[in-house]
Amino acid sequence: MAKVLVVYYSAYGHIYEMAKAVSKGAGKLQNTEVKMVKIPEFDSAKEAMSGQEAYVESQKEQEVVPEATHEDLKWADGVIWGIPTRYGAMPAQMKQFLDSAGALWLNGELEGKATSIFTSTGSIHGGQETTTITSLVPLLHFGFIFVGLPYGENQEMLSTEAIGGSPYSASTVAGPDGSQQPDPKELLMAERLGERLANVAGKLAQ
Ligand SMILES: Cc1cc2nc3c(=O)[nH]c(=O)nc-3n(C[C@H](O)[C@H](O)[C@H](O)COP(=O)(O)O)c2cc1C
Repeated sequence: MAKVLVVYYSAYGHIYEMAKAVSKGAGKLQNTEVKMVKIPEFDSAKEAMSGQEAYVESQKEQEVVPEATHEDLKWADGVIWGIPTRYGAMPAQMKQFLDSAGALWLNGELEGKATSIFTSTGSIHGGQETTTITSLVPLLHFGFIFVGLPYGENQEMLSTEAIGGSPYSASTVAGPDGSQQPDPKELLMAERLGERLANVAGKLAQ
């Protein structure tokens, strides 16, 4: 029995869509319990973006998703992080969640749990790899064991199309104005990442 936590932050909904695909993939494995939670939003961000229709609509849609707590991290055997790119790295909301989890680090609560990342950018070369790799750094401090996305099961990555997906993470390209939705191939790779993480988390938990 593996317990998988999908924890994400999404301003405009692209990572939210990817989170649903990752959860679906994780849920394909028998005896797997999947919980999807969102990183709490900053009041300052809500205020600053209150004039953006896409932001307001997406936040409303995400109201059904419970907010992440550090207890959720303790509960899980495996944790998959949905992290949109901000200047080539993770958003402050996600960093704040990790920075306030010092007690978990101190007590080694997350050591030996499986972890994976999925991400998004506005543009193709906007930082999908840098966001993933730099996000991995704090996760390794917590003692997580990283699970990537291999080429063997994800031939869609061997492509010159403007789509996400790399050995480091599942990903999507939102478009410079955010008007693109995740491509079916990107969602498929996200699903496979969820399934793979659940599989590894279950084995590690045994
Ligand atoms: C403050 C800020 C910084 C951003 N920095 C980048 C960036 O470095 N590269 C990029 O391609 N997109 C960048 N973007 C676009 C976001 O990555 C994009 O809106 C996000 O991936 C969409 O995911 P979401 O709808 O789940 O929030 C930035 C957006 C904001 C608001």
